[in-house]
Amino acid sequence: MSDGVAPNLIAAVDEAKHWDRLMQMAAIGAIPDAEGKMVGVNRACLTPLDRQARRLIIGWAQALGMSVSVDEIGNLFFRHEGTDANAAPVLTGSHMDTQPNGGRFDGIWGVVAGLEAVQAIRDAGVATKRPIEVVAWTNEEGGRFAPGCMGSMAWAGFKPANTWDGVADPDGITFGDALKEHLAEEADIPRRPLGYQPYAYLEAHIEQGPRLEAEGYDIGVVTGIQGSRWFIVELTGETAHAGTAPLSMRKDAIQDMIRAINALNDLMADPTDVLRFTVGRIEVHPNTSNSVADKVRFTIDFRHPDKEVLILNGDAIENTIRTAVKNCDVKVTERFHALPVEFDPIVQNAVSKAASEQGLKQIDLPSGAFHDAQFVVPVCPTGMLFVPCFKGISHNPAEYSKPEELAKGVRVLAQALADLANQ
Ligand code: GLV
Ligand code: MN
Ligand code: MN
Repeated sequence: MSDGVAPNLIAAVDEAKHWDRLMQMAAIGAIPDAEGKMVGVNRACLTPLDRQARRLIIGWAQALGMSVSVDEIGNLFFRHEGTDANAAPVLTGSHMDTQPNGGRFDGIWGVVAGLEAVQAIRDAGVATKRPIEVVAWTNEEGGRFAPGCMGSMAWAGFKPANTWDGVADPDGITFGDALKEHLAEEADIPRRPLGYQPYAYLEAHIEQGPRLEAEGYDIGVVTGIQGSRWFIVELTGETAHAGTAPLSMRKDAIQDMIRAINALNDLMADPTDVLRFTVGRIEVHPNTSNSVADKVRFTIDFRHPDKEVLILNGDAIENTIRTAVKNCDVKVTERFHALPVEFDPIVQNAVSKAASEQGLKQIDLPSGAFHDAQFVVPVCPTGMLFVPCFKGISHNPAEYSKPEELAKGVRVLAQALADLANQ
């Protein structure tokens, strides 16, 4: 495979079958639109729907003759053997969980594409020296249990696997309990140890940004991922009667939140428009129209490609809030910290070479979204490939990539994996 395209490998990627598999997956947790058409997906991690989707792909992998295993944090692996049993495997994959109001392609495409690529390699009779493993990482989204990327963080040794046992979902179920139940439901699947040293990791994903579509590219060769920091801010004041408590005597948590967010907006102002700052979730107590709020809890998602800015502005968040609020007690907790990463030339070259040999238009670009690949970087040479998605819309039921765009991505993935697996 290192010398040019194997035409039968490219031909072995079946666009219609691939699309059909993605739509079977999309039916699990489907969200209907106003006309009743199933468009989005809500498939939170470690739920019965997640397990249903996993059983579906396990069935496909077993039908292909791949072996299946699961580790202690629920990361699911499918293995294709190489000719050299001792060679370090090439790893590919992504995640199967979605945002609560998510789309049909974020994450799941990379897992199904990995399986499809292995199927093409097998069907085309392309021999690989190294094994190829496909992984579905647990809880990339952080939608049910925050933060995201727990599975890849634990696998990579970034944090111990029990770090998030006490994190509760909106119904009060902890990650630890959900994981215990989940592993019991998958007790028939052989266990594997957490972590190992692959030869390389290549994750396929939809772009989740507008560039590839707008500029007419088929493939994005991802150069790296910007850094992200997540915080929870808790403001505690005093509840009071909205009709009687004088403004001068109130400890109003909502008013202090407004002061805090205004000050944070000043801190995060960026004339270059590179910085990303989001307050995405606000919880208010008691949340009634005629009571002063005594408690507010809000989230901060702050991202930047430059490590210095990420550290400087991120470290200034707590003080900015403390200085801005007038009446409430303040608690700021950081719960996710991913530094910017650069991907390895070995993996970028494999993607780029496959795309050019297949006559596809490619561009190098960084990722604004975080991905499990961010945490694999310290473990082995890592990279990603992107395919276009409609107007860059993602984390939204309207998320869409065309069947032919996805099939091109699978073909590049298949060739790049076969190339890496023969190095
Ligand atoms: C991943 O889902 C992200 O928020 O970047
Ligand atoms: Mn994703
Ligand atoms: Mn996502």
